[in-house]
Amino acid sequence: MLVKTKELYQKAQKEGYAVGAFNVSTLEAIKAIIKAAVRLRAPVVIETSEKEMGFLEPALVFDIVKELGEKISIPIGLHLDHGKSLERVKEAIQAGYTSVHIDGSTLAYDDNVKITKAVVEFAQTKGITVEGELGKIVGSSEKHQETITISQDFLTDPEEAKRFVAETGLDILAVSLGNIHGVYASEPKLDFERLAQLQKLGLPMSLHGGSGIPADQIKRAINLGITKVNVNTELRLAYTETLRTELAAHPDEIVPYEFLPEEIEAIEDVVEQKIKLFGSECRA
Ligand code: G3H
Ligand code: ZN
Repeated sequence: MLVKTKELYQKAQKEGYAVGAFNVSTLEAIKAIIKAAVRLRAPVVIETSEKEMGFLEPALVFDIVKELGEKISIPIGLHLDHGKSLERVKEAIQAGYTSVHIDGSTLAYDDNVKITKAVVEFAQTKGITVEGELGKIVGSSEKHQETITISQDFLTDPEEAKRFVAETGLDILAVSLGNIHGVYASEPKLDFERLAQLQKLGLPMSLHGGSGIPADQIKRAINLGITKVNVNTELRLAYTETLRTELAAHPDEIVPYEFLPEEIEAIEDVVEQKIKLFGSECRA
């Protein structure tokens, strides 16, 4: 069933695990995530970035998730990921999304506060959960060839975060700790001392760039208060690599329902591994 994500994060925070938030841009991905969640009895968040939402159409994403979600007892949140404007946020909420992320991280601090506060005022009257972001999380959800160095200025400052939370009233904070979007040639190294400071805020926190972060660092981050982990690139890779292999093996196949089950299964496997790693199995 479709639920408000705030209740998912509060339960995760209390019980010490994280909810997996998985990006989708195809029906196959939605089906795969729901299948894995049902099998492992895990709460999940299905999310779309602005571009993913634009491609799938927000009302269509909502209808599919609601329809598939109604048949099961697993709680599912539907979330706008990295919304950049109040217009996109309103579009998602009007379509039925239960949660939104307003990403003002590229703006100056005061402008980030302003837009996040405006979203909170609009969303919270409708019971919609709001995620805000402070500090910059670089990169995009792709397989990158280069090694990346992250400027210290991009990391979330705990004192500034305290002010940001008080000034905006958001429900969950996306933090920058050395995590990056996409898979890179070198592994990210999360700043756990910083995370321990941020944990003192007592607020649910999200870790973006969940692809490519080693399992031990993910576990440590969850122990220090991360309650939502976003994963996109690893799902994209599972889908496209399987599709390429399948089509190369069967070059004359033209019937999508003959080869798409393989791609669904590949995404399902990744989601299953992540749910187990995040400790959200059997928490529904
Ligand atoms: O907002 C989406 C995520 O942060 C995904 O990051 O592509 O590195 O898994 P990722
Ligand atoms: Zn992200």
